[in-house]
Amino acid sequence: MASASPARLLLDWYDRHARRLPWRVAPEDRKLGEIPDPYRIWLSEIMLQQTTVAAVKDYFEKFCRLWPTVEDLAAAPEEDVMKAWAGLGYYSRARNLKKCAETVASDHAGRFPEDEKTLQTLPGIGPYSAAAIATIAFDRHAAVVDGNVERVLTRLFRIETPLPDAKPQIKAQMGELTPEKRPGDFAQAVMDLGATICTPKRPACALCPWRDICAVQSSELAETLPRKAPK
Ligand code: ADE
Repeated sequence: MASASPARLLLDWYDRHARRLPWRVAPEDRKLGEIPDPYRIWLSEIMLQQTTVAAVKDYFEKFCRLWPTVEDLAAAPEEDVMKAWAGLGYYSRARNLKKCAETVASDHAGRFPEDEKTLQTLPGIGPYSAAAIATIAFDRHAAVVDGNVERVLTRLFRIETPLPDAKPQIKAQMGELTPEKRPGDFAQAVMDLGATICTPKRPACALCPWRDICAVQSSELAETLPRKAPK
């Protein structure tokens, strides 16, 4: 029997262990035909830019309660949005959030564009968020690389070049690993693997779905990656 591809191994793990997050469509609901709401994916990605999942959850729920659609957010008074954002920090994100909602409502008929390039023309959406939204909301093939993904891939391929020099190689590897089917689930699966198994300290290698194909066969060596260039 041919051995399962790295993507297959990870997606099978994700189907059993995906974190339940309020903006996410769980794998079993996905199989029943439920699709992600691009507005909720965009909102979560903006909130997650410089903030942890734990800190974002309550704010995300509050925003969705107050403004369930992009049109609702576009029509909200800016001071209400700033007030609801208070405590999350990096307030330029909230100003851009409001501007982006207005632009989507007025220039895109209330629908988020699906491709990375057009997404990047919107306020507050840089290359990382554009890739994340395109793939998670629209199942577009894209290489999504955040800090978790950098850690997982430098270990999987034993990339010893320090960051940031290793970034282009990591992005290329992520592009090659990402499957044509379920690319959005795959991106989120790598993030979850980094958050729960392939952690910075004491990674749980014995539980990893990639343990048999990982180039770093010890958690002690894994802990030394990714390398960082001295400041
Ligand atoms: N960090 C950034 N985007 C994320 C996502 N969609 N799921 C989990 N963590 C994330």
